Amino acid sequence: MTEQGQGQGRVRPSGVWATAVGVARVRALETERADPLFRDPLARAFAAAGGLWPSSPPPPEGDEAARRRRAGVALSIVIRTKFLDDLLRQAAASGIRQAVLLGAGMDSRAFRMNWPDGTRLFEVDTAPPLDFKDSVLRQERAVPRCRRIPVTADLREDWPAALAAAGHDAAEPTVWIAEGLLIYLPQDAVEVLLARIGAQSAPGSRMGLTLASRGVIERFATDAAPGSAASLWVSEMPDDPVDWLAGHGWDAQAHTLRERAAAYGRPLSTSPGHEEGPGSLIAAVRR
Ligand SMILES: C[S@@+](CC[C@H](N)C(=O)[O-])C[C@H]1O[C@@H](n2cnc3c(N)ncnc32)[C@H](O)[C@@H]1O
Repeated sequence: MTEQGQGQGRVRPSGVWATAVGVARVRALETERADPLFRDPLARAFAAAGGLWPSSPPPPEGDEAARRRRAGVALSIVIRTKFLDDLLRQAAASGIRQAVLLGAGMDSRAFRMNWPDGTRLFEVDTAPPLDFKDSVLRQERAVPRCRRIPVTADLREDWPAALAAAGHDAAEPTVWIAEGLLIYLPQDAVEVLLARIGAQSAPGSRMGLTLASRGVIERFATDAAPGSAASLWVSEMPDDPVDWLAGHGWDAQAHTLRERAAAYGRPLSTSPGHEEGPGSLIAAVRR
């Protein structure tokens, strides 16, 4: 893997999509562990190209709360990645051959997971991260293990038309992933997104979502550094996510990040008053 820094005429990560490069850095660190929950060999190249490898800017000196917050977010990313890897494997085993990654960022599942023959994987995001990603993939000579189809679209706009134009077949079941995405969309945009996903989902489709706990924005985002990921958070999960998703036509199971982390042998630390953990992981099946 090449240790390429920024440059090469690549667009510099900024705004909401810079968060995707931060996520890649976390996955690169996980990949270096002796006992990783997944391996993401491309993650380090994304982080390096974004200027976050080998080191990323540390929290301000002595800011213990910021250090703990960063460690907590990093562990959450590892746990959700493992959860959604498993969900995608189960979807493939059930016969689903279309996957759509909404807000795909530097997700490299097309390259690092095994896919049944005939699988099409759509990566939907805006142009800057997809262009950045393509330049790193070219540099790494990465070869997808399924048919990977990037789709440039803003998820607050009419993305289903772009997805259909790229070859998505709404008459066939799809597995949808919205990982680390909904927290960046205003609540009304989340509702429209869910309605649009539902309209493109044949019965038997599946969906994996990550939701931020109620109160997480107040706890983390209000004193977050300007431009940091947490400063861009705007949406939290509804009071009852299973009921909310039932209203959108999905039978859902909600797992807390805390419960999954314990199940994977990576327990989250508990700070007083924050026992409920930072969020939930949703696995849903279309009625
Ligand atoms: C925290 S990153 C997560 C990336 C990826 N899902 C993962 O977990 O590796 C959030 C991603 O959502 C994308 N995103 C946020 N708002 C979006 C929008 N309105 N339309 C398309 N993509 C969006 C960003 O560009 C970024 O790539």
